[in-house]
Amino acid sequence: MHTLNDLSRLDKPALYRELEQSLRSLLAGEPDLVACAANMASLLYWSLPDLNWAGFYLPDPVSGDLLVGPFQGKPACVRIPPGQGVCGTAAVRRETVVVANVHEFPGHIACDSASNAEVVVPVIRDDRLVGVLDLDSPVPGRFDADDARGLERLVAIFVAATAVTTCAGR
Ligand code: SME
Repeated sequence: MHTLNDLSRLDKPALYRELEQSLRSLLAGEPDLVACAANMASLLYWSLPDLNWAGFYLPDPVSGDLLVGPFQGKPACVRIPPGQGVCGTAAVRRETVVVANVHEFPGHIACDSASNAEVVVPVIRDDRLVGVLDLDSPVPGRFDADDARGLERLVAIFVAATAVTTCAGR
């Protein structure tokens, strides 16, 4: 059993350091990408304050769209074409996109009307996009550069721990 520690008193750098350790132990010994994405989404959703959605979109090898993957939160938009929304933008740019106010982001795709801020981190292995990590918050300005760098380190741990999954050939 994996125990979730109470991290609410930690400042942001300490919080992400703790999450790095938790994620390593959570993913240890299991290379399946979807299984690991499911547990990582849960870890983030239940550990980071002020989130209303945390999860992955995974590229559909047939259409090239991003398809909703493992997540925690309310049901979400299923399919995002490349370059669309915050997720599709991060996927095409292959860089983290931090949005303080989603209502000011051209083309933002609203899945939950409670969302006001968003951060999306591309997941890249061997130069290939294998997904994006997407976090939403009801709090405007919730995510900053410290979150971006902290989440990128967590995604690097995820990439190192996982291999190509057996699911849908991704
Ligand atoms: N807002 C995202 C869509 C996904 S949901 O937030 C879960 C976007 O603009 O790409």
